[in-house]
Amino acid sequence: MQPIINSQISELKESATLSINQHAIKLLNEGKNICHLGFGESPFPVPDPMQTALRENSHRKQYISGRGLPELRKAVADFFQTQFGYNYTAENIFISPGSKEMIFQHVYLLEGPLMVPSPSWVSYGPQAAIRSKTFIPIPTDINNGYRLQAEELDKTFSNQRFPQSILILNNPNNPTGSVHLPEELSDLAEVCRKRRVIVISDEIYGLTKFGKKPFEGIAKYYPEGTITTSGISKAFSAGGWRLGFAMIPHELEEIVPALSAFVSETFSCVSAPVQYGALAAFKNYESVRNHVELCRDIHEAAGEFLHQRFLDIGLNCPKPQGAFYLFPDFENYKDKLNSRGIHSSTELTESLLNEAGVALLPGSDFYLPDEFLGVRVASVDYNGEQLLKDFPVSSKLNQELKTSLFPKLADACERIEMWLK
Ligand SMILES: Cc1ncc(COP(=O)(O)O)c(C=O)c1O
Repeated sequence: MQPIINSQISELKESATLSINQHAIKLLNEGKNICHLGFGESPFPVPDPMQTALRENSHRKQYISGRGLPELRKAVADFFQTQFGYNYTAENIFISPGSKEMIFQHVYLLEGPLMVPSPSWVSYGPQAAIRSKTFIPIPTDINNGYRLQAEELDKTFSNQRFPQSILILNNPNNPTGSVHLPEELSDLAEVCRKRRVIVISDEIYGLTKFGKKPFEGIAKYYPEGTITTSGISKAFSAGGWRLGFAMIPHELEEIVPALSAFVSETFSCVSAPVQYGALAAFKNYESVRNHVELCRDIHEAAGEFLHQRFLDIGLNCPKPQGAFYLFPDFENYKDKLNSRGIHSSTELTESLLNEAGVALLPGSDFYLPDEFLGVRVASVDYNGEQLLKDFPVSSKLNQELKTSLFPKLADACERIEMWLK
């Protein structure tokens, strides 16, 4: 029998980031020498206290509350209060199998169009499509590091009104590595208030903001309208453990019973041992702080290294301020690339993979026009476990030292440079 598939789903393709990973791994397994700058998985081990807690709690086999382990929700609320000054209460926190799932459930249950800055992460658009939701990418400017500005958001409403709309603001950002400035968040908050926008602040990279100054999220400026999501995939390197969460402000707590019902009819609860593993990090952050901060500093060094090399090569690229991505473009090489038959970011990334062995993602996967020659670069192709031991914490890192610390990243830049000649 020919199955008849929901067209909303059959039209989706596999998530771009996951499929480039599969493709690059296949080439690597075939013995090809590939620089894998396509997939953003943290290369470090999970901090020891989390691994120990996971092991010690492996006997826990019961279903637990769909909203999550009460101790974990309390620890998460306390952590975000202390670190970022947020005021979410434990009752309004939901633990989910990854923050991606929590973002999806909110996109599903909240009415109104979904707005995102472009470029933005690959999964928001397909999540809106599953729900047949109007999806509005808002163009941003490279001169602002692709950070969404209040006027750009406000302009979206100039000839349309919505009783409610949703904005996903990913900060620090994948694919650009940008981090919003406090004054930008405050200006955005004003527009959101005026235009009745519910913000989903995707802060999965919140603890990988570079430098010593703590990260600030929009919940500080727009607490009544911001749902913040985060998890353990990036700063704690535990993507495969599948644990994330959403924090809902009490002004929006009508969402809570609806979401409770939704969770109970879908994933039921997150694996109990994994919740104890996460508890170890949030309840006693001091036990993992050094590890998390060292990983952050290594991400920063890798980002700075690539940024400098991209500028040397003649690419345009905002300097990353957090996360582990950069978004360079090849617009300065447009004529040369056109004459080689390359007219789009898709053709550019295909040629770079096939001819130079460098895996990247095309800007078109991030809601930019395909003819714009922007690409998303992930800066994590190195041995994280080894680097945690070898990273010269106290010395000033020059490009030469970074070249030896990140040989694959250096190799990728050389290949791109040669390929452009
Ligand atoms: C911007 C962004 N948001 C959310 C996620 C999902 O993270 P999680 O593992 O918590 O589902 C990712 C993962 O790559 C991401 O890059």
